[in-house]
Amino acid sequence: MSSLTSSPAWISLQEHQKTMAAQHMRMMFQEDPDRFRKFSLSAGPIFLDYSKNRITEKTVSLLLHLARQCQVSEWINRMFNGDKINFTEHRAVLHTALRDPSTEPLLVDGMDVREKVRQVLSQMRSFTDSVRSGQWKGYTGETITDVVNIGLGGSDLGPAMAARALEEDCTSPRAHFVSNVDGAHLVRTLRHLHPARTLFVVASKTFTTQETLMNARSAREWFLSQARHEKFIPLHFVALSTNRKEVSAFGISPDHMFEFWDWVGGRYSLWSSIGLSLALTLGMDKFSEMLLGAFEMDEHFRTAPLEKNMPVILAMLGIWYINFFNAQTHAVLPYDQGMSDFVSYLQQMTMESNGKSVTRDGLPVDYATGAVLWGGVGTNGQHAYFQLLHQGTPLVPADFIAPVHSRTPLGNHHQILLSNFLAQTEALMRGKSHSEALAELLSSGMSESTLQELLPHKCFEGNRPSNSLLIDRLTPHSLGSLVALYEHKTFVQSLVWNINAFDQWGVELGKQLAQGIQAEWNEVQAVSSHDTSTNGLFEMIRKA
Ligand code: F6P
Repeated sequence: MSSLTSSPAWISLQEHQKTMAAQHMRMMFQEDPDRFRKFSLSAGPIFLDYSKNRITEKTVSLLLHLARQCQVSEWINRMFNGDKINFTEHRAVLHTALRDPSTEPLLVDGMDVREKVRQVLSQMRSFTDSVRSGQWKGYTGETITDVVNIGLGGSDLGPAMAARALEEDCTSPRAHFVSNVDGAHLVRTLRHLHPARTLFVVASKTFTTQETLMNARSAREWFLSQARHEKFIPLHFVALSTNRKEVSAFGISPDHMFEFWDWVGGRYSLWSSIGLSLALTLGMDKFSEMLLGAFEMDEHFRTAPLEKNMPVILAMLGIWYINFFNAQTHAVLPYDQGMSDFVSYLQQMTMESNGKSVTRDGLPVDYATGAVLWGGVGTNGQHAYFQLLHQGTPLVPADFIAPVHSRTPLGNHHQILLSNFLAQTEALMRGKSHSEALAELLSSGMSESTLQELLPHKCFEGNRPSNSLLIDRLTPHSLGSLVALYEHKTFVQSLVWNINAFDQWGVELGKQLAQGIQAEWNEVQAVSSHDTSTNGLFEMIRKA
């Protein structure tokens, strides 16, 4: 047994779960009219109602006891202070420094990271101003109308998600995002663009990611097929990276590189120069508003007591279901069309961070860690997978997110959207009891035999947990706060599970094998270096 699962806090929660498993939230709401006030809180632009969870005050106190036992507050300070908590890569974890306007030096290996951040933000501002104002010209003297971000994972998902979410704030140039090495992604994107008016932003922390470099090379060929001279490349290609050497080797001058640093994890890099394509279409002022929204959440996370700390509360509720109710997935359901890419973004953030099964001490865990995160925009999900949320066998805790005001008001649309948002969490919590279903069927006047046949199918157990997160409207500021909220939630969970949330060795094996296979396409003999399934598939594809 690990020290976690044999700890007093863990054992108390196991005991408490036995009592809670038998209780229905419907009763808890009936018995305590103050439940909504007790289990809700605000942080910056976000209001969280967590009263529709299978919890009492005792549950929260036991969960926070576990958080204290895992030294959550101490670790939060260590992260903000720049300790090398990503110990497998010997790196500090300082995405919070990217949005911290303070000018007090923060040293990592003798370097003031805040000073570096200010320098790059200022470089981003002059570049974005020049492109957006039309001062920056392409090789024919035309202005830039389209920006194509070429990146993958953290070098793509964040800016792509935010550009879509903040479409109402975006102006010219338009931003496009190419990530997949499937040629269709680049071909379909470039089909509508003109080389003379297109700027490529090659985004890669390492500048060694095979797919990104392949896409960037093909983009360069496409550009040169029109521009016809390499001397024009600096007008149309810039790089975002930590790797100056590889950027130069690729043929982009270091003068056209926007730097970031190894203490910024790929999936936490939206706030760094990786946000350049977003800043180009949004403008630097709005990009800064997003940073400020995130900073507000950072300050809340750093200073609020655990019982009033939104990321901590969300993290511990997740632990409650994953570790004590065996929930294996977590749904995120934004009721905002602009947030259609939010779930994909959170998938990398949470699953690449906490998809680990070895503790910081190198021992295998004997408890569940990161849950599968999934979901999509409401109300579409209601007519797809919500049936399973309501009546399926797995317990799926869910976060419902909604803006009170729409950025794109249209008649009564937003009110109907919000009615659905409210109805779903209520239905999940209440369910429909046997007697309620019976009364409903009786009132419809159907025959006794039909009634008996239908009754079991019309009952909903309810008692299904959800959090409701409200923002006033989706703006750069509120989006910044929301993203930072989930970053910190993810971190807190990793602390309880005693895993390193900031490395991603699991991604390496597939990368290594793909490189090996890439080298085998030209072999004359039939390939036999793999298992028979991989050999067989390889030969089938090669013959075809
Ligand atoms: O998927 C693994 C990963 O290393 C991510 O962590 C990262 O966001 C992505 O690949 C892209 O890496 P890079 O920015 O170095 O191209």
